[in-house]
Amino acid sequence: MSLDALFEAAAKARLSAHAPYSRFLVGAAIRDEQGRIHPGCNVENAAYPQGTCAEAGAIAAMVLAGGRRIAEIAVSGAGDGLVTPCGGCRQKIREFASPSTPIHVLDAGGVLKRSFTLDELLPFSFGPDHLEIAS
Ligand code: THU
Repeated sequence: MSLDALFEAAAKARLSAHAPYSRFLVGAAIRDEQGRIHPGCNVENAAYPQGTCAEAGAIAAMVLAGGRRIAEIAVSGAGDGLVTPCGGCRQKIREFASPSTPIHVLDAGGVLKRSFTLDELLPFSFGPDHLEIAS
């Protein structure tokens, strides 16, 4: 069975993670508004709070490449549980997504476990639209 290219990119990115402290490798991949795929992995740091999540890496890659909207995003991680984006990453995704944007949770091999919408994971969220204040 061949994986969706987005899922394959997330699982592949996971293998590049720098996670010597948690040993918890995570990969992410974004499909942007132009259909392009941007992968990212978690990058930990000896000063623990300075580590960054896989989703943050994928968002940075998308923005650098000129992408401005997340059409869908996939996250790949190991274990029995669902590796959903952390709270901070949900907010980071919100900046470039809409309430109905799909967030796919994959296993370490890139197989889909469950899909959510951004609104399911971050209800009543705050975003750029709130700053569009009429003057
Ligand atoms: N992590 C991610 O990169 N994305 C997630 O969705 C969950 C957690 C990372 C952060 C840290 O490097 C490691 O997983 C353990 O929390």
